[in-house]
Amino acid sequence: MRDLLPRPTAVHPAPGEFVFTSATGLSGPDDLTAPIRSALSVVPLAPNGTGIEVERDPALQAEAYTLSVTPERIRITAADRCGAFYAAQTLRQLLPDAVWRAAVPAGTRWAVPCGVVEDEPRFSWRGAHLDISRHFMPKREVLRMIDLLAMHKMNRLHLHLTDDQGWRVESHRFPLLHVIGSHRTESMISHYEEDASYDSTPHGGYYTLNDLAEIGAYAEARAITIVPEIDVPGHAAAILAAYPELGSRHDTTYQVLGKWGISRAILSPLPATVDFLTEVFAEILAAVKTPYFHLGGDECVLDDWEANPEIEEYRRSLGLGSMGELHAHFLRELGDRLAEHGCRAVYWDEAYVSGRLRDDSLIMAWRGMQVARRAASAGYDVIATPVVPTYFDYAEVDDANEPLAIGGPITLDDVASFEPAPADWPEEASAHLVGTQFQLWTERIPDGRTLDYRAWPRGCALAEVAWSGSADAEFTGRLTGHLARLDAYGVEYRPLTGPHPWQSGGTGPRRHRPGRIVAADVMTRLDGMTLDAASTRPSM
Ligand code: ACM
Repeated sequence: MRDLLPRPTAVHPAPGEFVFTSATGLSGPDDLTAPIRSALSVVPLAPNGTGIEVERDPALQAEAYTLSVTPERIRITAADRCGAFYAAQTLRQLLPDAVWRAAVPAGTRWAVPCGVVEDEPRFSWRGAHLDISRHFMPKREVLRMIDLLAMHKMNRLHLHLTDDQGWRVESHRFPLLHVIGSHRTESMISHYEEDASYDSTPHGGYYTLNDLAEIGAYAEARAITIVPEIDVPGHAAAILAAYPELGSRHDTTYQVLGKWGISRAILSPLPATVDFLTEVFAEILAAVKTPYFHLGGDECVLDDWEANPEIEEYRRSLGLGSMGELHAHFLRELGDRLAEHGCRAVYWDEAYVSGRLRDDSLIMAWRGMQVARRAASAGYDVIATPVVPTYFDYAEVDDANEPLAIGGPITLDDVASFEPAPADWPEEASAHLVGTQFQLWTERIPDGRTLDYRAWPRGCALAEVAWSGSADAEFTGRLTGHLARLDAYGVEYRPLTGPHPWQSGGTGPRRHRPGRIVAADVMTRLDGMTLDAASTRPSM
């Protein structure tokens, strides 16, 4: 029972193996056998065969399972379909690596070593965040990411569907969102502190509502919940390029931006904006069923609110003392609208710092563990997403041989040693730390190949932290074996020894600039900002 990743709660190896024959098949309740059948789709299973017995055990916690292998049979118990699916993922890891190929080489011997695995997750939120605004990733990349997350027993895919640089989902109700908001004329290729340069190449794309429904259904079948994000009220240039009347200044020159950084483009907080967004949420939620919806709330430049007499009058009429409080009020109102759909609002941590939100809100603490602890102590459920070590757009090694990254380093060890709920936290706070996720911001991730390189193997380490609670001393050894599975699947991960020659950034604009932005310094600066009000200075 080698190289299981993430590490199960307990593994008891035994001598012998179970060998699949032409008579091997699955038996048990349909809702538990269906996810196993789909996870093992390349393994030949007889329609009415026997040998793999699946049973419900209501005493097990959500997502937990046991897998017991003897020479005579394989027995799986789970309380729910997610547990059954994870048992199948473990079984898949015990089969030959060929099981990760789309078609299996002739003569593959289907055998599983004997023993017992008992397993349950440490955290209920085990996620990945994919920014498809800065660079659009075609649907096939999203479906592939879902498969890779499922392989690692991760259960949330957070899709950053809009930002200054692009709106990424069809709207029947407000079609200019995708007609105008989904593309830009060029993308920035220079780094900070360099003269700005652009690629002079249009970039864009969006998912139809049918695509989104397909992504949601594909994820659900793999025990993954989609968390759509409509990032407001800042990061709104793409929305405002389409519907400038929602802006906080009377301006018809908003554009979908090709430049990276924090823009001043901010939606007006007046009721018309809330009504507009409520209709957008309804369209998205009709396509993808989810109990979580992310509203962003990060990096808002409130200058245009301050300068607008109508917004100032609105603030006063609500009896709010500052524009920061209005920021929280706006985000809370949207949370109320989502609650009517049975959805809990998720926010980046600025929303929590601005003021009181609905009690059922979830906070993603990206500016550090101080704000994570404060929000958890205040009773909010918190997802640990600090820049270090969960921002995988930072280079793993801050070396000139790497491809361009925002900064660096965030190493595999940084991720493997991460403690989302540190031991010195009070118990009430730890109880509200529901999990962690890695972030793939894509300003410098233009395509799926680069996405693979950034996500893996650091994603394997985060999966281990999220599922097993921590990576143990054998993690690196198990990872080495696990990489053969990624090879079979066709993942262009970053080798443990550094990039292949064709993965390096070369000497042109895609070269990495070591030392320009040091991840640890960024983290210290952000951590220090988390007591401030929401307003951020523009950086473009
Ligand atoms: C963020 O990195 N602005 C959440």
